[in-house]
Amino acid sequence: MSQRMILINSAVFVAEATLKKRGSCAALFPHQRPLELEIGCGIGDFIVQIAAKRPEHNFLAIDIFNQGCRSTCSRVEDSGLDNIRVMRMEARYLLYHYLGGNSLRALYINCPDPWPKKRHRKRRLVNSEFIDLALYSLEDNGIFNFSTDFTDYGEEVAELLNNDPRLDNLNSTPYTNDLGDYPVSKYMRRFLDLHQPIYLSRYIKKAGLTIAPPTISKGFRIPWPQEDA
Ligand SMILES: C[S@@+](CC[C@H](N)C(=O)[O-])C[C@H]1O[C@@H](n2cnc3c(N)ncnc32)[C@H](O)[C@@H]1O
Repeated sequence: MSQRMILINSAVFVAEATLKKRGSCAALFPHQRPLELEIGCGIGDFIVQIAAKRPEHNFLAIDIFNQGCRSTCSRVEDSGLDNIRVMRMEARYLLYHYLGGNSLRALYINCPDPWPKKRHRKRRLVNSEFIDLALYSLEDNGIFNFSTDFTDYGEEVAELLNNDPRLDNLNSTPYTNDLGDYPVSKYMRRFLDLHQPIYLSRYIKKAGLTIAPPTISKGFRIPWPQEDA
C-alpha cells in the first residue's frame, strides 16, 4: 500500500498509539454510549449523516487511506458532532485486535472495493471468514449493514448472510434495492445518479449466541501477523 503520508491534526482523529494507551474504543468518547462502526468511510459523508440521526450512539469511522481519514475528520469537525471518532486502520485488524466480542451495536460497509477481476476476487473484504469476525464483534441484536453497487458482490454477500442461522433478515428479500432512510454515501450517490441499483443487505444478530473468537487468515492488506499490536 503506497500513499503519501499526511499528518492528520484533528481532535477527532485517533492514532493507534492512543488506542493502545486507552485500552478500549469506548474510552475515546466523552460519553459512554453504544458503539457503531463504519468500515471504509471514504470522505466521511455517510458517518456524518448516520451519527447526526443517532446522537445517543457513538460512531467510529475507519479507512486504510490517509486522505480519506483526513477528509472524514474535516467533515466531522464541520458537523460539530461529538459522537464520531476517525481512525486509519485496516478493518479486520481493528476488529480482531481492539474491539473484541459483543462490542458493536452496528457495523456498516458501503461500496467496499469490488475487485471486479476474477483473479482479484479473493481480495474482497466481505466473505464468510469476515462475517464470522463481524458476528463475534456484534452485540446481541447488533446490525450488519452491507451495500454495494456490484451485482455479484451484492448477491454473494446477501446469500452468505441469508443462509447464516445466527442472523435474521431485516428485509423480506436477501437484499433490497430500496434504500428507504438508509443514508447515501458518495459512491452510492455516484451509482444512483447513473440510475444503477445499490444492493443493500441488513441483518440482525440473534440474541443469546456464544461465538468464539474466530481465526483470521493472512489476507490482502491485513498487517499480519502482529500479535503485539
Ligand atoms: C470504494 S470506497 C467507498 C467509500 C465509501 N464507503 C463510500 O461508499 O463512498 C472503499 C473504501 O474502503 C477503504 N477500504 C478498503 N479496504 C479496507 C479495509 N480492509 N479496511 C478499512 N478500509 C478499507 C478504501 O480505502 C476506500 O476508502
